[in-house]
Amino acid sequence: MADTPETSKLSHAELRGVYQANQNVLRFCKEKLGNSATNEQAAIMHAYELQTGSYIERMKVDADYRAKKEKFGQLVASIFAPYKSASILEAGVGEATTLAAVINHLPADQAQCVYAFDLSWSRVLVGSRYFAEQTAGRKCNFFAGELEHIALADNSFDIVFTAHAVEPNQGREKQILEELYRVTAGQLILVEPAYELADDAARKRMDFHGYCRGLKDIAEANGWHVSRYELFNVYENSENPSMLLVIEKNAKTRNEPQYVSPVDGGILVEHAGNYYSAEEGLVYPVLGGIPYLTRSAAILATHYLEV
Ligand SMILES: C[S@@+](CC[C@H](N)C(=O)[O-])C[C@H]1O[C@@H](n2cnc3c(N)ncnc32)[C@H](O)[C@@H]1O
Repeated sequence: MADTPETSKLSHAELRGVYQANQNVLRFCKEKLGNSATNEQAAIMHAYELQTGSYIERMKVDADYRAKKEKFGQLVASIFAPYKSASILEAGVGEATTLAAVINHLPADQAQCVYAFDLSWSRVLVGSRYFAEQTAGRKCNFFAGELEHIALADNSFDIVFTAHAVEPNQGREKQILEELYRVTAGQLILVEPAYELADDAARKRMDFHGYCRGLKDIAEANGWHVSRYELFNVYENSENPSMLLVIEKNAKTRNEPQYVSPVDGGILVEHAGNYYSAEEGLVYPVLGGIPYLTRSAAILATHYLEV
């Protein structure tokens, strides 16, 4: 599919230079793309592709960070405890450092079906390897995907959770929350910046970086039931305080997770190593074993089933 207007203005080689010079890539993109309040999705993708490997590296070398991640995983798993959690999705999984910590605190009869995706294919690649190493072979279906157009069918997961993934998407919060809610069958559990619970200095910083706001208000305006809303400060980062938001969906029907086209919502069928949607005749490639289920990865190939 064609580039979106904003992707065509961003050069990864140029952004690599910005990253290597220790400048803020998202900020640079904002200025380049007209300094809007929003981080364009393409800018987020480039910025996180550039960071690939950095979270895993930090887990290796920083014992304090490792201990906090462990505590974070334990706390998130304890939030899941009252609920059915046979099927779990982490949206915006990064390098799976949080997901591995959470799954390691869940008994084997929970989390039997785990899915996870991220906008950055490279982070998913290194994350899938890290997850396999850290969880003694617990299974997870990793794919590249977008929070704005989640390539999964409705009501698919007992629990959907995010950890600072909605964060850089100021301006798209409602669209993203509605997508997360659509694929949730049981609970939607968000650990994200606590804009409304933060002081003025922290809010100013969050606005500067284009961080998300108003998640609880959006949930309530949509008529969803919010059962928990509180500060969640495992990392004790006063510059970027976190909050926990638990939204109860409790759908009557729970579907088996199935991939759908992020363009047209049609069920994807696996064929000759890739995924095909008959609706629009689109093929989504599988790269290195990882399905690439974003709108920009779709290839028009209406006769693909003849392969
Ligand atoms: C701060 S990292 C957190 C990663 C992971 N949840 C963790 O706890 O380590 C944010 C992640 O969200 C992903 N992300 C941000 N916006 C996204 C979007 N619109 N669609 C898909 N992924 C997104 C980024 O690519 C990045 O890997």
